[in-house]
Amino acid sequence: MTTPAESLQAVLTTNDHLRVDGDGMLMIEEMRAADVVERFGSPLFVFSEATLRGNYRRARDAFQAVWPGPVNVMFAIKCCPNMSVRAVLFDEGAGGDCFGIPEIEATFAGGADPKRIALNGGNKTAEELDRAAELGITVNMDAAEEIDLVLAAARRTGKTIPVNIRLKVMPPEFEDFTSDAFPVSGDFREGLRRWKWGVAQETAIAMVERLATLPELDWTGWHAHYGRMSNLLENYAAFHGEYGRMIGAVFAATGVAPRVIDMGGGWSRERDPESRSTDAGGAPIEEQAATAVGALKARLEEVGLDPSGIAVWPEPGRYIAGNAALMLTRVGLVKHDVGFCWINVEASENNLPMICKEGSVNHVTVASGMHRQADKEADVVGPICIPSVIAEGLRVPGDLATGDVMAVLDAGFYAEGEASLINSVPLPASVLVSGGDADLIKRAQTWQDVFATQIIPDRLRRQGLGDNLWRG
Ligand SMILES: Cc1ncc(COP(=O)(O)O)c(C=O)c1O
Repeated sequence: MTTPAESLQAVLTTNDHLRVDGDGMLMIEEMRAADVVERFGSPLFVFSEATLRGNYRRARDAFQAVWPGPVNVMFAIKCCPNMSVRAVLFDEGAGGDCFGIPEIEATFAGGADPKRIALNGGNKTAEELDRAAELGITVNMDAAEEIDLVLAAARRTGKTIPVNIRLKVMPPEFEDFTSDAFPVSGDFREGLRRWKWGVAQETAIAMVERLATLPELDWTGWHAHYGRMSNLLENYAAFHGEYGRMIGAVFAATGVAPRVIDMGGGWSRERDPESRSTDAGGAPIEEQAATAVGALKARLEEVGLDPSGIAVWPEPGRYIAGNAALMLTRVGLVKHDVGFCWINVEASENNLPMICKEGSVNHVTVASGMHRQADKEADVVGPICIPSVIAEGLRVPGDLATGDVMAVLDAGFYAEGEASLINSVPLPASVLVSGGDADLIKRAQTWQDVFATQIIPDRLRRQGLGDNLWRG
């Protein structure tokens, strides 16, 4: 039999900033998890500033160690749309990837150097392109047809717009592909071909040739995104090798050298719940960077492109934010029936959609009394009307009771962004822990917030109905 402290120790990775103190309390940096809940309520996202900074620095160092030119590590804000998280990363020097006006504005509200920011998206609006032009950020184009739209924005705003072109990378090695991280197998190139993003090599050549005739647009280079398809290093090598081959082929055809290679996201984590197991994580970021960059660089050098004159722009999301947040939640009713035990907690599928919808296997633990033996098995479930199973068959101390605090690790990525309002559950607050201090960085929604955008037409309103809502 093990204790929750021992189980936690077994899954900790570098830079988690989690430990168990002598009293068996879970510590996030220098704060007790139970004290943070006491002060800010439950459920609650709790970020560690040290983890955010450490992850960024490790990713930056990993790419700088293997790439001879400049490196711009861009945080993919979609994975964690929090302005204070952005502010911490800006303080570290991070660039950013954004989609749409809200992500552009949130990126700049947290702090951004426009030269390090790219706007992605397959159907950008005139408003988005004008804003990108005003701010001076790079537009990653996704179609030959997009050139006219970006050109129009350059002419409307009187600005020269830096642009990259997103390539559709379909490595020959993916003809027979079984993913270790995703439920896919077979000829994965067909999946990538139908995937809406990126352009073919021939399209890219025509785009580069046309861009050379347009002084309003400054073609700087390329973009491609690996995604979550596999954690195996050989697949990073296959993808980035093919990316390099395509870049080389366009250079050979046009004679124009890129200044930027945006390497996209998809950098996995050593404890990677998305792989549907706490055991099957990714390789250390240093090995991912060395493998991907090595494969890319080799193909560029084959055609005489000098990497030292090109900047690489990796766009990690989950690598930076994934383990930087825990979800803390109080235990409510502990139910025993039909031979099972259910621990009802206040957190739910609303706040942890990756677990319930995508099968992520996050480590879940009690956050106090962690030196007790975990001698009972229980399902940890959320309070909503769909199963909302946060942990199945978890070993917990037999005397775990209402009011105890539990923690779900790796709640920093695609949690807030993919949260749902099923059962109209308001979304929780977020807190940033820094050493022995904690700041509220997002207040919890109220139920009025949940309904704030709804309008009952006058002809349907009855005396008294909805008044609570409109009064707030
Ligand atoms: C263009 C782009 N860049 C970066 C990311 C971040 O990916 P990840 O969180 O896997 O690093 C994504 C995620 O889908 C993306 O679409």
